[in-house]
Amino acid sequence: MLSHITAARDAALASIASAATLDEVNDLTSRLTGKKGDLAQLKTRLGSLASIDDKKAAGQAINDAMAAVAAALESRRAALGSEALAARIERERLDLTEFVGAPKRGHAHLVTQAWERLEDTFVGMGFQIAEGPEVETDWHNFEALNMGDGHPARGEFDTLFVDHVPPGGVAGTTLLRTHTSPVQIRTMLTQEPPIYIVAPGRVFRRDTPDATHMPVFHQIEGLVVDRHITMADLAGTIEAFTKAFFGAGFTSRLRPSYFPFTEPSAEFDIQRPNGDWIELGGCGMVHPNVLRAGGLDPEEWSGFAFGFGIDRMAKERHGVDDIREMYSDDIRFAEQF
Ligand code: PHE
Repeated sequence: MLSHITAARDAALASIASAATLDEVNDLTSRLTGKKGDLAQLKTRLGSLASIDDKKAAGQAINDAMAAVAAALESRRAALGSEALAARIERERLDLTEFVGAPKRGHAHLVTQAWERLEDTFVGMGFQIAEGPEVETDWHNFEALNMGDGHPARGEFDTLFVDHVPPGGVAGTTLLRTHTSPVQIRTMLTQEPPIYIVAPGRVFRRDTPDATHMPVFHQIEGLVVDRHITMADLAGTIEAFTKAFFGAGFTSRLRPSYFPFTEPSAEFDIQRPNGDWIELGGCGMVHPNVLRAGGLDPEEWSGFAFGFGIDRMAKERHGVDDIREMYSDDIRFAEQF
């Protein structure tokens, strides 16, 4: 009997040692430890043994053998489990340092680049950045800028109106701002002079897109209000800006013009080192009616304002023929800059 037990145990341990997968270990577990297992079968034959001592010795041997088999199954299962885990980790390993080619770096849109450089230049000259809403009131966009109802200059701004009637207000008085000049009014109404601000922003006009026009474009407004500000301060500021932004080889000039909200008014041009003149924007001394609309006394305060297109400037700077290209999302265009 004892030799049968030893043989059954050794056979069981040998098959456990050669089990190659967890599935095989599971099969062996039910086969070796179940009722039909060799050791279990031997146990049923204990009754046929003659002496109590033989029964005791054989029973003890069977229990020891079963414990040894159970322990061997457990340790084989653990060993195969950690092997499987190690294999899985190896299989799913990601080499985060792997070199997959040079990264492709994008860049900001041409208009954003120009916008940020303009801000940097004016901040360097002592200006602060101001802003206002893109959806404006008729009053801020026109009325307060000396363009009352029916003023002919309103016709030059192809205005997009918004279907919104303010509480207690009048229909047809909410619009998409046609220029950044309403920020002049908002700044004067919220800030005590001296005022030295620039206000870059998005503006809207009911224009059909063509090589030089888009219905959505960008402007930067400048406003200075202080004591004893003169046209010489305006011309000097424009000239200092031209050199700081475009380079020492550039100069500027003012040409007489007309805007309802400045008096006198001028267009300003810049001259390239090669002698070409480029028209950049409008400017002038803030009209007394505009100062009044901003809550300021024109006898005490004076100022100048200017405004110009950012998109047009980016277009000039990079020699883009058609302004629509800048909004076409064509990667072949964007990658050139
Ligand atoms: N707002 C004017 C425009 O859009 C430009 C301008 C701004 C002119 C400030 C004078 C002073 O054309």
